[in-house]
Amino acid sequence: MVAPSKSAPAPAPTSATSATGRMAAVQDMARLQRILFEAEREFVRTATTLIYRVGEPELKYLLCQHVWESASHARFLRERGRELSGFGTGENVRPALRRLFNEAVMPADAYVALAGFYRVLKPALLAAYRHYLQATHHLADWPSRKLVEEFIMDEERHAQEILAHLGTADDPVWIAHLGSALLAQGGLLGEAPALPLPAGFTWESEARAYQHPATCNRGKYPTCSSVFSHDPDETPIVRPWLVDPKTDARVIRLMVYVWLMMELDAVDYLATVFYDTPEAPFDLHHDMARHLWDESRHSQFGFRQLPKLGVDLMTVEHSLDLYNILIQMPPHERYAMMTMEFEAGSFPTKALVMDRVRELSDFEADTLLAFDRNDEQNHVRYGHRWLPEIMKLCGDTRPTDEFVKATQARFAELAKIHGGRTPHALPPEQRLTGTKILKLAGVV
Ligand SMILES: [Fe+2]
Ligand SMILES: [Fe+2]
Repeated sequence: MVAPSKSAPAPAPTSATSATGRMAAVQDMARLQRILFEAEREFVRTATTLIYRVGEPELKYLLCQHVWESASHARFLRERGRELSGFGTGENVRPALRRLFNEAVMPADAYVALAGFYRVLKPALLAAYRHYLQATHHLADWPSRKLVEEFIMDEERHAQEILAHLGTADDPVWIAHLGSALLAQGGLLGEAPALPLPAGFTWESEARAYQHPATCNRGKYPTCSSVFSHDPDETPIVRPWLVDPKTDARVIRLMVYVWLMMELDAVDYLATVFYDTPEAPFDLHHDMARHLWDESRHSQFGFRQLPKLGVDLMTVEHSLDLYNILIQMPPHERYAMMTMEFEAGSFPTKALVMDRVRELSDFEADTLLAFDRNDEQNHVRYGHRWLPEIMKLCGDTRPTDEFVKATQARFAELAKIHGGRTPHALPPEQRLTGTKILKLAGVV
C-alpha cells in the first residue's frame, strides 16, 4: 500500500525518545526485575532480624536457608538485569520499598513479625514473580522466564516449609497493618491499584528505632554462659581433653558435636549485622547470607548427630556469652571478632580433633568435619575481603590490623562486664558435662 501523497509526515522523534520507545518492551521488564532485586535484598537485610529473636533452632535454620535462597535470587536477578537496558547500574533500594521492609521488623513479638514476613511480604513476592511471568514474552525474555519459574517454585516451597511455625501468634492486627502498607504501593511491583492508607495509619518504623535484643532467644532449651571450661563437672567441652592424645576418640567426637551445635551463637550474632548495614554493597550481604547459612548447617551437624549418640538435647545448655558481648559492639567490630578471631583462631585445634575422629572410621563424622573446615576457610576469606568495606560503612578509618587489635582488647573489656552473666539453667546432675560424656562414650 502506498501512503496518500497528501498526508503530513509524522513529526521526527528526538533521538532520546526514539531510543526509549524502541527499547520500551525491554525496559518495562528490566524495571520489574529491578524492583524484584531490591525486594529480595531487603528481605535478606530485614528477615535476618527474626533469627535471633525466635527460639526454636529448627526455625532459625529454616530462616537462614530462606535468607540464603533470597540472596541467590537477588544475585541472579542482578546478573540478568544487567543484560537488560534500563535495569540501572547501582544497587540502591528505593525508599518506598525500604520503608515497607523496615516496618516489617517492628513488632516486639518476634512471632508476630514472622507472620508479617510470611503472610504479607513473601506472598507479595510470589505474586510479583507470577505477575512478571504473565507480563513478559515467553520467547523474547526466555532467560528471565527460566529464572522466575525457578524462583516461584522456591517461594511456593518456602510457604510450605514455614507453615509449621505460623499460627501461634496473635497477629491479625499486625497483618492488617502491614497489608495496608503494601496495598498503598499497589503490591511490590505496583501491579495492583494503590489504595490509600487507612485513616490513622502510622509507620511504627518512623515513630521509634528498631533495637536488637540484649540477648538471643533459645526457646525451651536450657542456657548458660559458655560450654567450654577446664572442669569436666561443669561443661561438656573440656578444653585440655580436646588436644590430649590420651582422650578417647569417642569422647572427642561427642565434644566436637557440641562445639558444632553451639555455632548457633554465630548464627544469632551474624544475623544482627545485615540490618545494621543498610548501605552495604549487595555482594557483602550475599556473602554474609552464605556465611550465615553455612553456620546454621554446622550447628545442625551437632543438633542432628548428638541424639544419635544418646544425648538428650534438653540436657545440652546453649551458650549465650558471645551474642551477649558482641551485641554491645558496633557491626564492624562484631564481624571482625567473628572472622579474624574466632574463626581464624579455630583451625589448629579443629585439625587435631579431625585427626582423632578419623580413628573411629565414622565416615559421616569425617565428612561433616571436612565440610565444616572447608566452609570456615571461606569465611576467613570473606573476612579479609569484607572487613575493610564494613569498616568503611561504619566510618572507621584505622588500618585494619590496628583496628582488629583494638577490637580484641575491647572485646576482652566488654566480656568482663557482659560475659559470664548467664547462670547454668540446669544443676550439674541434669546437664551434659564432660563427665557425662565419658559415660555416654562408654569410656567409664
Ligand atoms: Fe562454622
Ligand atoms: Fe564460620
